Amino acid sequence: MTKLEVINPATEEVISTLDYTPEVEINAQIDRAQEAFQSWKVIDAHERAATLYKWAELIDNNIDELAELITLEGGKPYAEAKGEVTYANSYVKWYAEEAKRVYGRTIPANTSDKKILVDKFPIGVVGAITPWNFPAAMITRKIAPAVAAGCTIICKPAVQTPLTTIKLIELAHDAGFPEDVISYVIASGRDAGELFTSHEAIRKITFTGSTPVGKKLIQQASESVKNATMELGGLAPFIIHSDADIDAAVEETIASKFRNAGQTCICANRIYVHQSIVDEYTKKLTAKVHELKVGNGMDEGVKVGPLINSDAVAKVLDQVTDASTKGASISRSLDDMTALGGNFLRPVVIANATQDMKVMNEETFGPLAPVMAYDDIDEVIRIANDTPFGLAAYFFTNDYRTGLKFYNELEYGVIGWNDGGPSAAHAPFGGVKESGYGREGATEGIEPYLETKYLSIKQ
Ligand code: SIN
Repeated sequence: MTKLEVINPATEEVISTLDYTPEVEINAQIDRAQEAFQSWKVIDAHERAATLYKWAELIDNNIDELAELITLEGGKPYAEAKGEVTYANSYVKWYAEEAKRVYGRTIPANTSDKKILVDKFPIGVVGAITPWNFPAAMITRKIAPAVAAGCTIICKPAVQTPLTTIKLIELAHDAGFPEDVISYVIASGRDAGELFTSHEAIRKITFTGSTPVGKKLIQQASESVKNATMELGGLAPFIIHSDADIDAAVEETIASKFRNAGQTCICANRIYVHQSIVDEYTKKLTAKVHELKVGNGMDEGVKVGPLINSDAVAKVLDQVTDASTKGASISRSLDDMTALGGNFLRPVVIANATQDMKVMNEETFGPLAPVMAYDDIDEVIRIANDTPFGLAAYFFTNDYRTGLKFYNELEYGVIGWNDGGPSAAHAPFGGVKESGYGREGATEGIEPYLETKYLSIKQ
């Protein structure tokens, strides 16, 4: 059987070699998770919460090692990787609390001899498939609510970044979670997807990744009517209106666009700036973007690490070439952008972007900031909504009426108003349209792991 080589995207060296989990073992693991579910679901919520808290403590104690793994296998700058571990752990801590708040209710019956009780039960065994861009946070925001609810879970991390998941799950076992309550498999997305969706014991699929893969999983999961949560692609519009604080908007653009070198589903993909301020904004943004230090994420002061692989680099360069051919001004030459070689790209601002460019229509997943001018607020809202995606959107204005108009009319699940970093464990993350369904984080994030049952009692 072939082995999985984990590659450091900064050096392109193999940093670890892992065995793929054989199909027969994945099926056996699902069976064991089903057996473990029988005993885990009856553990009381306070004990589940205490085990989650213990896991959180171990994650805090191992933050340096976890951050190093994220940087080595994913390329994220080390300081940012540490931020991801803290972010990941905030889900563990949040769901340690939510475990204790899974409430039922009583409903007044229509006859005096009846009583109706409503209760929540864990859905069963969960199959989770996670991406490489947040190898810690996307794992904890699925595992923590699942086990808090009383489910058992099998995770399939991205083949690019399995080491962070393995370490997190080892820590979960050290904290007291039985091995078959939280486990992982090493497999390709396609193999795990097929096995998870076809095994009758799996009652829920949770996936973060691309829209095409999500659609395939939804199709497969429908065969046995499995519940699914899908956190899929984005194409975030980032709108800066005439009355916005330009300096603040530039800072928030940098925070949103260049987090993980632009490889996030919610980062600014297309920036629309009101005609009256577009020149000032673009000048200020370009100056800041060119200050960002690019390099190996383990090096001091690096703000932009490598992209995940050469395909990602090729996609970004294709968008730059397309924009340039269609008349945009690129803030650096292609030679300057690619001067560091390998998977590194120096970030650029694309001025005079127009709506027909690939960069305005395809998820970039790279360090490009395309800026297009607009005149009319209704027109910019129309363009922002004119996409199958609906994950995150941003707008900048200091006028409350304008802000409420944007908020009400933008068809997105996550919206930042003067805020380029809206993600938080206590807020419900997720998209509309082809960006998926279901929410992760907040009170909403435990619901997908619960079933509702009611009991009608006649006296
Ligand atoms: C993502 O890119 O899918 C996740 C981003 C976040 O949680 O902030």
